[in-house]
Amino acid sequence: LFPTKTDITNVYRPTQDLNGRWVYASPAVQLPPAYEWCYDKLECEYDPEHWYTLPGSSCSGTRQSPLDISSKDAVVNTLLDEFHFQNFDHKNAINYAINTGHTVKYMLKEDMVEVWGGGLGHVYSVLQFHFHWASDAADSLGSEHLYNSKRFPMEMHIVTKRKDLTLDEAVMTGNGLAVLGFFMEEETSQPSNTEAWKLLTGYLSTMAKFSAEVSIDDLLGDVDRGMYYRYNGSLTTPSCNEAVVWTVFKYPIKVEKSLMQMFPTKMEYHNVYRPVQDFHSRTIYTSAAAASNLPTFLVLLLLSSSHVLSE
Ligand SMILES: *[C@@H]1O[C@H](CO)[C@@H](O)[C@H](O)[C@H]1NC(C)=O
Repeated sequence: LFPTKTDITNVYRPTQDLNGRWVYASPAVQLPPAYEWCYDKLECEYDPEHWYTLPGSSCSGTRQSPLDISSKDAVVNTLLDEFHFQNFDHKNAINYAINTGHTVKYMLKEDMVEVWGGGLGHVYSVLQFHFHWASDAADSLGSEHLYNSKRFPMEMHIVTKRKDLTLDEAVMTGNGLAVLGFFMEEETSQPSNTEAWKLLTGYLSTMAKFSAEVSIDDLLGDVDRGMYYRYNGSLTTPSCNEAVVWTVFKYPIKVEKSLMQMFPTKMEYHNVYRPVQDFHSRTIYTSAAAASNLPTFLVLLLLSSSHVLSE
């Protein structure tokens, strides 16, 4: 009746340019992941080169992650002692798996799993762990950090928060978060952690409440956790908060290739890793153990010869 009775039509102004403004939504609005960012500029406007233009972004800061870790430039720091991993052996600590739109994230039950020591200076609660990868190709390399300019097939990030801070406080604090990064590499002879990774990857398509009995220790297997690199960095996804004390372990977790291939195959995301960032005069420190570069065969030789001599 409005147009008919008044004889006036099209009484609305055309939409205007945003001119850099943002439209916000209340949390109850179910949006596709708020401000769409992505890893590939063919998929969206906000690829890693443009993450810094997102609202509230720190992505162009001076302590960004990931980095290319050079073993010869790392400085030995004797304060980087052994970690204490509390409840890493708990088989019911994983709560559920979620598809974040960019990766798969396994959420842990609150205040159950903790880590301290390792030069961290605080107790940190494990919140979640998630993964970075490239594709299901046989030679796929998709880790975020590099080690001596080498990229690994995948990377696992165990994200922890200072226990004495709320999450909101932690993301605004220079050491509010601590992430434990593990490279992942293919193992051809069946590694002992295979059953755990089978159970974990079983949740990639369902995204359900986690009911399998898998501990973080089960997933890490027998990887050496005494040798690691430490630096001050950031989250590797927007808003790239510069709140992360990074630990990158020297030795990769060994996982069967077919199980690593499940991540790109089931999740259908590819190349979910951020390019390496500038150092901006930061130093990477290393635990004393990681600095010794004596090849294993030499150690074995020395050990066996001293054994012979002592007999
Ligand atoms: C990180 O930054 C803090 C505060 O500036 C500093 O005390 C600490 O030594 C830094 N740690 C590393 C690993 O660079």
